[in-house]
Amino acid sequence: MKKNKVFKENLTSKLLQKETLIILRKLKKKDICEIGCGDGNISNYLIKNQANKHHYFLSDISELAIKHAKKNIKYDKITFKVGSLFVPWREKKFDIIISDVSSLSQVVANKSPWYQGVKSNCGIDGLKNVDKIIKQLDKNLKPNGIFIIPLISLSSTDQLKKVLKLKFKDYRETKKIYWPIPIFFKQNINLFDKLLKKKIIYYQEKFGTYLAYTSVAICKKMKGKNA
Ligand SMILES: C[S@@+](CC[C@H](N)C(=O)[O-])C[C@H]1O[C@@H](n2cnc3c(N)ncnc32)[C@H](O)[C@@H]1O
Repeated sequence: MKKNKVFKENLTSKLLQKETLIILRKLKKKDICEIGCGDGNISNYLIKNQANKHHYFLSDISELAIKHAKKNIKYDKITFKVGSLFVPWREKKFDIIISDVSSLSQVVANKSPWYQGVKSNCGIDGLKNVDKIIKQLDKNLKPNGIFIIPLISLSSTDQLKKVLKLKFKDYRETKKIYWPIPIFFKQNINLFDKLLKKKIIYYQEKFGTYLAYTSVAICKKMKGKNA
């Protein structure tokens, strides 16, 4: 059995930190939920870089991750919970929800070093968790709330964008940042090539290096009866 590990801060974490901070600087005293918080690096960055006394609600399915997050973050207005997706938060409504749950194509996650010992059960398109989160937003996001989620090209970003645009009146996507995928990718390229051809994931090859991209989707105001 694989030993439990806590996910390490990466480029996606940093993009989420940067983009969320821009939004938070304009706001005061909001309830902010981070799902799939891992070691808490995103919320910790936000807490350290703005002074508007927001209340943070952090959860992760991993007990070990929450243990690390509790140790890493020194702040009084914060609640931690262990549990899957929105289960720990029941009916609670948030002004801002950041989703950073595992969301890569499971075919990629299985071969990658990132998810050894970290829970990931995302389906071939990577959207299994994300789809469930989006369905819960009617219950857990305030009508004028903001939903922030990474678009990582090693999952089906086209499908995710389609779902988000149907759900939100105001959809914006930040610039794509390309990054080199570690060696495991080249070693299993035949497997990933099939997913590329089926348009389930996207990457490109430049001078022998495989590149994926990440951007951040910022979604405001849900469509529908409460909007
Ligand atoms: C990509 S990592 C991100 C961690 C952290 N936000 C960071 O930037 O380092 C995904 C996280 O989602 C968590 N996770 C996986 N499945 C989950 C689920 N069903 N509910 C809540 N968290 C989950 C994992 O334990 C992991 O910590």
